[in-house]
Amino acid sequence: MGKIITTVNMKGGVGKTTLTVNLAACLVKNHQQRVLVVDLDTQVSATLSLIMPQDFAKIRKAGRTLSQLIKQSLYQQDYLNLAIQELIQSDVCRLPGMDLLPGDIELYDDFLVSETLHYRSIREQGIDFEVVWQKFEQQFVAGILAPIKDNYDLIILDCAPSYNLLTRSALLSSDFYLMPCRPEPLSIVGTQLLERRINQLRRLQINQQVMHSKLLGIVFVAASSNVLNMYYNQVMRRVNDDFSPEQLFKTKIPLDVNVAKAVDSFMPVVLNNPNSSGSKAFIKLADEVIQKINQVN
Ligand SMILES: Nc1ncnc2c1ncn2[C@@H]1O[C@H](COP(=O)(O)OP(=O)(O)O)[C@@H](O)[C@H]1O
Ligand SMILES: [Mg+2]
Repeated sequence: MGKIITTVNMKGGVGKTTLTVNLAACLVKNHQQRVLVVDLDTQVSATLSLIMPQDFAKIRKAGRTLSQLIKQSLYQQDYLNLAIQELIQSDVCRLPGMDLLPGDIELYDDFLVSETLHYRSIREQGIDFEVVWQKFEQQFVAGILAPIKDNYDLIILDCAPSYNLLTRSALLSSDFYLMPCRPEPLSIVGTQLLERRINQLRRLQINQQVMHSKLLGIVFVAASSNVLNMYYNQVMRRVNDDFSPEQLFKTKIPLDVNVAKAVDSFMPVVLNNPNSSGSKAFIKLADEVIQKINQVN
């Protein structure tokens, strides 16, 4: 059975996408997992970390992105009527087993979603708009992934830096979520706020079901200089009020220029420069991820 992991943090620039693509590559390369990366962010960073911009432009022109599936699911606009299998880019970065569902710079329009769901609630007389909305969120991402879920060992959903419809729907569809975090005071506050919001989502009962996604762990992305480290270590302790030690990954990802530079080669650093300090950390982190998933199973 395929497991779904959502990479989430309301803050931008904390390393969600970098974590998603490097973890995916390590899980394929070192753990023989079949992995699908799904780009849920209109900044298309995960897509552009794994394929070349000119290839993305072609894919987009042909309407072969997540946007197509969203239109089909939301507005029943099925003029292309493409199955998810036809949109998935296989063996990206020349790595067999590593697949990508490309994102798009336009995914949905909030107003149109509200209008569509409003009409749905009128059609289904007696059902509150709020209930229609919640049901929609529950099945939106899950429904898109359902046909291929079991073709993969793991599906990693890379979210936008906001708590939007797709982020909530991703969380509702997933088995686990990962939170990358910078050891900075406001980043820690952001992580605590997000966990509170996720707990609210957990308390909702939709279609007699509750969200089952578990926090796989918080991953700190930290600088390795000594002076900063002392300060960062102090700040990192602040998460101890809200999270137990099992909810924190032991491996921390160092800031490493090779990680940032890898984007220019359209390949995760673990493939592009496997001996760099960042790559070594991602490799260790992937080992921890596999251990944690196996513990739960
Ligand atoms: N460990 C790291 N070392 C150096 N640069 C990093 C590291 N992790 C992320 N970055 C860089 O920081 C920027 C933001 O990272 P990204 O993964 O896109 O964040 P997010 O998805 O949370 O917005 C990118 O330019 C990325 O290359
Ligand atoms: Mg991102």
